[in-house]
Amino acid sequence: MTRRIAIVPGDGIGIDVTREAVKVLRAADALFALDLDLEEFDFGAERYLRTGEALPTGMMDRFRSYDAIFMGAFGDPRIPDMHHAAEILLGTRFQLDLYANVRPVKCLSDRLCPLKGRTRRDIDFVVFRENTEGLYVGMGGIFKKGTEQEIAVQEDVNTRHGVERIVREAFQFAARHHRTRVTMSDKSNVLRYGHDLWQRVFAEVSAEYADIEANHLYVDALVMQMVKDPSQFEVIVTCNMFGDIITDLGAQLQGGLGLAASGNIHPGRTSMFEPVHGSAPKYAGKDTANPIGAILTAHMMLDHLGAGAAARAIESAVVDAIETGRCTRDIGGSLGTSATGDAIASGLKA
Ligand code: NAD
Ligand code: IPM
Ligand code: MN
Repeated sequence: MTRRIAIVPGDGIGIDVTREAVKVLRAADALFALDLDLEEFDFGAERYLRTGEALPTGMMDRFRSYDAIFMGAFGDPRIPDMHHAAEILLGTRFQLDLYANVRPVKCLSDRLCPLKGRTRRDIDFVVFRENTEGLYVGMGGIFKKGTEQEIAVQEDVNTRHGVERIVREAFQFAARHHRTRVTMSDKSNVLRYGHDLWQRVFAEVSAEYADIEANHLYVDALVMQMVKDPSQFEVIVTCNMFGDIITDLGAQLQGGLGLAASGNIHPGRTSMFEPVHGSAPKYAGKDTANPIGAILTAHMMLDHLGAGAAARAIESAVVDAIETGRCTRDIGGSLGTSATGDAIASGLKA
């Protein structure tokens, strides 16, 4: 069974780290006979500046013909409004209706744990970020721009359908993975309409899962607890904006932004996988970016595509590289991006 994957490295360090993820995917393919068919696309800032077009016409339909999409990162100082990034990244999330942004927060080594008196065993949860609604829908407008009376409105859209499917996804994941608690986080004490809907949906859906504890924290309390006692979390479900913010904090709990992976998923449809970090332009092309977030993203993608053994082998090789210091400087190693990719690719065991 051939697995067809579209690869879009994007901009900045997205290009550096995607090269290493592809290296590891090819090594896993050779070892586990995955029959991967990887096709690379040059969508990103360069192409947008050259052609005026972020994605060619019909590309979303073409994306749908792949088994999965892997993206690096987007963002370039020459395009300050992020137009191309919004069209490629948010465009893919929205148009492919990838409603579940799944972001594991798993510390792989005690050495990387940033919290005093804690170990890696205290940091192992998964964030389910709603990925198609909220403040990200781009509804609103500006009135009297540039004047003293300027009004800027950015709408926060929460639909019954959208909230219900992400909350359900979080509970289904918890049930499948024998997790015993789902924490929903909102700001329903202030957002009395949008997040009241989250409260009511959470109460309804959680009632269907008698064996899973339903827990609630306002988002300000949640971030405090993520630092105070992360061991209490197993699955967190939240809206698009809060999910974005708390997963950068989550990345730091794992040891840094260079380590965090994510999947943008619509079960049963073509899904997209990308590291949590951005294009970090000042590190681009310098062979210093940490490729592990991208490599763990490849691990998530293979797991999603039913290649569980290969996925587990990638995670083991990553842990081994971290433990033996064969990794980049941001996490205490001495290697460059490419040598870290080599160490992980050659460390894969069948
Ligand atoms: P960033 O994630 O690119 O970088 C922030 C900092 O985190 C870096 O300066 C660096 O210290 C560290 N970092 C990130 N990735 C790392 C890695 N792989 N290895 C080592 N250190 C790493 O965020 P930013 O600087 O706020 O944004 C830069 C650009 O990326 C912006 O244009 C932003 O909009 C965009 N962005 C894109 C995505 C995406 O494409 N998914 C995500 C976040 C930000
Ligand atoms: C992320 C990024 C994106 C987001 C940006 C670049 C649009 O920060 O994937 O976390 O806000 O979702
Ligand atoms: Mn983010």
